[in-house]
Amino acid sequence: MMAEQRERTFIMVKPDGVQRGLVGTIIERFEKKGFKLVGLKFVWPSEELLQQHYSDLASRPFFPGLVKYMSSGPVVPMVWEGLNVVKTGRQMLGATNPADSQPGTIRGDLCIQVGRNIIHGSDSVESAKKEIGLWFTDKEVVGWTPANENWVYE
Ligand code: RTP
Ligand code: MG
Repeated sequence: MMAEQRERTFIMVKPDGVQRGLVGTIIERFEKKGFKLVGLKFVWPSEELLQQHYSDLASRPFFPGLVKYMSSGPVVPMVWEGLNVVKTGRQMLGATNPADSQPGTIRGDLCIQVGRNIIHGSDSVESAKKEIGLWFTDKEVVGWTPANENWVYE
């Protein structure tokens, strides 16, 4: 398997996505696309972890509300692998504000307001590395070969 096909991104169903019963729907989007699931857990994250996760946004006025929202219930952090998965993952999520997210994207189809936008996705390969390291140990990210790999990649 080629190295480019091993790019990884960090995707997380936010507390509103879990409360609304959208975990399966969101996983299905990535599975059906052909990306490979290599890490998944169900956790109620601490405010401290979320402050680290969103540390780039610490100076923004919405930061306290963001941390409160994100720590308000369980979330489903995941690691997905595949060719251009970081960029394509962001396209699958849609714009940050669901008012601007195209129909057909996860946010465009499933939510309405920016403060309840149901899913997180890494914005660069570098952020993905940081975020995967924050939420998963090395052992919790599992290398494996799907039986259909040669039907997804030529
Ligand atoms: P995310 O990190 O959650 O995938 O979202 P993103 O890259 O599309 O957007 P980002 O700028 O990183 O913002 C992180 C999250 O903060 C909340 N937010 N609220 N009230 C506001 O103006 C506002 N702006 C951002 C959203 O939940 C956004 O996803
Ligand atoms: Mg972001």
